[in-house]
Amino acid sequence: MPAVPYSRSLTAREVIDGVVTKVLGRFLILVGAAIVLFLGAVFVHGTVDAVSGSAARPARVSPASRTLAHGRRIFRFDTFGDQSFWGGALQLHRAIAGKKNGGVGPGVSPKTALSVGLKVDATRIPKRVAAAIKAGKVNLNDPKVTLSLLKLNAVVGVRGFFRGNRLTSMGLTCAVCHSTVDNSFARGIGRRRDGWPNRDLNVGAIISLAPNKKPLTDLLRVDEPTLNKVLASWGPGKFDAELFLDGKGFRPDGKSAAALIPAAFGLGGANLHTYTGWGSVPYWNAFVANLEMHGIGNFSDERLNNPNQFPVAARAGFAHVHHRRDLITSKLAALHLYQLWLPVPHSRHFNRAAARRGKAIFDGKGRCASCHMPPTFTDSGWNLHAGQQICIDNFQSSRSPTFRYRTTPLRGFVAKRKGGFYHDGRYPTLQAVVDHYDSCFRLGLSAREKSDLVQYLLGR
Ligand code: HEC
Ligand code: HEC
Repeated sequence: MPAVPYSRSLTAREVIDGVVTKVLGRFLILVGAAIVLFLGAVFVHGTVDAVSGSAARPARVSPASRTLAHGRRIFRFDTFGDQSFWGGALQLHRAIAGKKNGGVGPGVSPKTALSVGLKVDATRIPKRVAAAIKAGKVNLNDPKVTLSLLKLNAVVGVRGFFRGNRLTSMGLTCAVCHSTVDNSFARGIGRRRDGWPNRDLNVGAIISLAPNKKPLTDLLRVDEPTLNKVLASWGPGKFDAELFLDGKGFRPDGKSAAALIPAAFGLGGANLHTYTGWGSVPYWNAFVANLEMHGIGNFSDERLNNPNQFPVAARAGFAHVHHRRDLITSKLAALHLYQLWLPVPHSRHFNRAAARRGKAIFDGKGRCASCHMPPTFTDSGWNLHAGQQICIDNFQSSRSPTFRYRTTPLRGFVAKRKGGFYHDGRYPTLQAVVDHYDSCFRLGLSAREKSDLVQYLLGR
């Protein structure tokens, strides 16, 4: 909630000035101008925000905090008009509602929604309803309850659009992939944790519910069973942003081509973003909002006009997307600011003495800091490397115009416990990552040095 803008507190003062002049005369104004201002704010606005905004602090809300609040609203709630795709084209809302509620099929119950990793913002649930859920009086197998949650705007990153009680469309926001909840109410239900990657979210399973997959099969020029096979291969916590550019569903070794959903926090000070360094945060935000979420906006990237590397993008004209009404570009600045502001979570559960020893290895013998430079933990400058430099294949890097891997900023591992490490989660544990570097760089680390390094990483 932004606090009260300057102009409104002026009005408050004018109103109160008038009333007080009539009733109490000038005396009170002279003696208690400050008190009057304070009461005026409470009286007219009736909120704590009003008090802190116009009396306790200087009347003006800083432009930065207003932009930040705007950015948070965009990150959490803005679909950029993408309901025309998820609802309008794919008809996904009808699969959610189910036949009984005017849609198709069995519908998506809250239980099913939670099982594919969707999260519920407990702060949007009225107390009475929360008590009923706790008491087991709400049927979590009923899609109708999902509709109520959508109507309360309580499903993180999913927006329902209603006519009366009928779900007429739905859209997605950044938060569906880049937020989780703290599970404080129940598993999958709690307070929002923006920026944490949702490593439970099965994006492929959700998209495959769509009653009309024709827009996707047309785009990729594949049949529906092929599309379904690709979507089923992603699994929880993964999404393949490049599929809709190059049409590659699988790696040469037959494994899924999808990448782990990354954190949206801890990106300040880093040059290039995404696992393969597509561009800056505002670049990628525009990319995702236009090309992946299918919001309505403008986007340009000449690099996508390459039919050899990006056959799907080239024929779909993704290099230049133009809409007369642009619901995206004006939001990029606030969205950027919000992402830079997102706090990095730190674990308290690690061995501090071991971590101190691990830091020395990270900065010295392990050579880690030559790329992961503290405090951003990515290279200061051009933060890209060929697969050979870290002893991995170049499949994913070759799907990017940079043909490189970006040095991952090593921060907030407490939020990345699931799904493994490296872009595709190929290393199940940090220990496995360290073992990999030990053999790649021929470091000759002892078992204790390796575990010290892991403790250091856990504390980042
Ligand atoms: C369907 C899930 C999904 C949605 C929705 C989504 N993202 Fe992402 N995001 C991803 C994945 C997967 C990647 C990694 C892409 C890659 O490297 O190929 C990513 C990468 C990013 C990155 C780069 C992170 C880094 O480490 O450099 C940022 C920043 C980001 N997303 C922000 C956003 C914002 C802002 C939105 C809303 C406009 C958004 N994302 C919507 C899944 C999603
Ligand atoms: C030559 C540059 C370079 C050096 C040196 C380097 N890294 Fe990396 N690191 C990278 C790149 C690039 C990635 C991204 C790989 C990917 O996503 O496939 C990465 C990824 C990681 C990850 C995975 C992060 C995640 O969330 O998936 C960890 C952990 C890591 N490095 C730790 C280390 C440690 C520990 C060392 C020292 C032993 C080290 N790195 C040395 C470039 C480097």
